[in-house]
Amino acid sequence: MNFSKFFSNPHNTLITAAMLTVAFSAESADTPIPLKNAFKNAFMIGVALNQRQFTEQDTNGAALVKRQFNAISPENVMKWESIHPGLGTNGYNFEAADRYVEFGEKNGMFIVGHTLIWHGQTPRWVFQGEGTNAITREALLERMRDHIHTVVGRYKGRVKAWDVVNEGLSEDGSLRKSQWQRIIGDDYIAKAFQYAYEADPKAELRYNDYSIENERKRAGVLALVKKLQAEKVPIGGLGSQTHANLTWPSADLLDSALTAFAELGIPISITELDVNASQGGQRSQSAEVSQNAQSSAGSVVDAANQKLAEQYASLFRVFLKHRKNIKLVTFWGLTDRDSWRRAGKPLLFDGEWRPKTAFDAVIAEATKNP
Ligand code: G3I
Repeated sequence: MNFSKFFSNPHNTLITAAMLTVAFSAESADTPIPLKNAFKNAFMIGVALNQRQFTEQDTNGAALVKRQFNAISPENVMKWESIHPGLGTNGYNFEAADRYVEFGEKNGMFIVGHTLIWHGQTPRWVFQGEGTNAITREALLERMRDHIHTVVGRYKGRVKAWDVVNEGLSEDGSLRKSQWQRIIGDDYIAKAFQYAYEADPKAELRYNDYSIENERKRAGVLALVKKLQAEKVPIGGLGSQTHANLTWPSADLLDSALTAFAELGIPISITELDVNASQGGQRSQSAEVSQNAQSSAGSVVDAANQKLAEQYASLFRVFLKHRKNIKLVTFWGLTDRDSWRRAGKPLLFDGEWRPKTAFDAVIAEATKNP
């Protein structure tokens, strides 16, 4: 084809330009309004990122993140085992976390840090003393303080919210008997918030947990936060992970939980939203990684796409009812292929980055309640 001869005719140039515009706008046509704009009068919309997304190796993923979201969380790269794998002060590795924060700043995102103190993904050496000796309360507190001051200090003013302590409660609402709790004692949570505040007094310091919609665990988290507030511990936010399934939490349970959490007077964030549609997932309300295999077992249930859309619409109707107390809703992953529960196809975008029926259902809730 002789392009110069073709484009020497202005008529052809015009037609081509028109076709290209239609082609490029097709992306916005089938996703009419991005999530971040649809909910701009209610709350921010975030997404947990993996390394391929914030380094833009996953170009489609990175493009979708920039278009749809205005907040980001690190799925794994800021956890102790990733950011501080080695013993002591020389054992830090900030390469991935630095790229994550740079991606957020370059794209005007509200940047979340996840997570400083957790029983998961924490190297063994953290809880080991000199030689074969057990580590003492004082020595572990010193390690915790050094870690929090170093990590929070490095991203001071750049990371706007931190999950300071993650999953410190058991299902019955009592303190989880983690190594942090066993070696330091119940006040390890208060100490962690104190150290984080010393490192960045302006950051929102969150307590983050799952299944806190359930009555006993809800009572536990309310008691914990009220105790911290009474002790003037600088807790600045509550994170409710909300790893849901197709019927849990029900709209009533979620509504009563958010009503109770609002009494704490601190911003609520939905921090790890996904809706597990796998058969095994309908029997579980836990986000324990160790139980993930069975809670993702089997293929998705019948009519999964429709049921997923209905549950997401139900959840967002309640979130919108509580918009004055909810600051941020973060999805725990971008597409079904990226999800820790990929077998349950739990997110709004499929493995080809295409919006699913659930995406339209969520946008419709925003449109109904602008
Ligand atoms: O980094 C290693 C890699 O070197 C190795 O080749 C690969 C193969 O085994 O494993 C990689 O580590 C995996 C890590 O994710 C990074 O991808 C771990 O096996 C895997 O267990 C880990 O899973 C993460 C899980 O937390 C671990 O606890 C999930 O991606 C992450 O979505 C999940 O997120 C947690 C939240 O932090 C807290 N709330 C619950 C939520 C779901 O469990």
